[in-house]
Amino acid sequence: MEEEKKENKRKTVIIAFAVLAGFYLLTKVLNSISPNAGKQTYELHCGGCHGNDGKGLGGIVPPLADADWVKNHQDDLACVIKNGMKGEVTVNGKTYDQEMLGLPYLSEIQITNIINYINSSWGNDYGFVKVQTVEEQLKKCP
Ligand code: HEC
Repeated sequence: MEEEKKENKRKTVIIAFAVLAGFYLLTKVLNSISPNAGKQTYELHCGGCHGNDGKGLGGIVPPLADADWVKNHQDDLACVIKNGMKGEVTVNGKTYDQEMLGLPYLSEIQITNIINYINSSWGNDYGFVKVQTVEEQLKKCP
């Protein structure tokens, strides 16, 4: 009788552990494909310059929030993130002439997550992009 109780207890512990481990793995997987992953990646790699609010930095870094450039250059975003850009760029009527270094170490999934985060944050509503599309765009970077 005592033995049976112990055995049951052990089983309960094992099952509880398996359930917890399952949840943990599930959140990991969901996080890697959710907009939340885009937020984290954006804030880590872009927010320092463009601001976590996407508003840019004075006259030096152009905004991404409510930015006509982002809206009108959807097909160029992946290459800008990967390879950077320099020279004059006009965003919302204001001209910037700086250089942004590329972030070539970001994966295609990270780039996709970042674009989707930008496109759907701070009031932006610029659509959704698929990883396959980003891969195609990256093959054709200037
Ligand atoms: C070290 C600072 C810095 C970092 C980090 C940075 N940028 Fe930039 N970004 C700039 C600057 C400066 C420009 C303007 C370049 C120019 O004048 O040609 C720019 C331009 C842009 C533009 C085009 C203009 C606009 O604002 O619409 C986009 C889009 C952009 N960056 C997105 C990103 C994204 C996404 C990330 C993160 C993956 C990122 N940037 C990381 C500094 C940065």
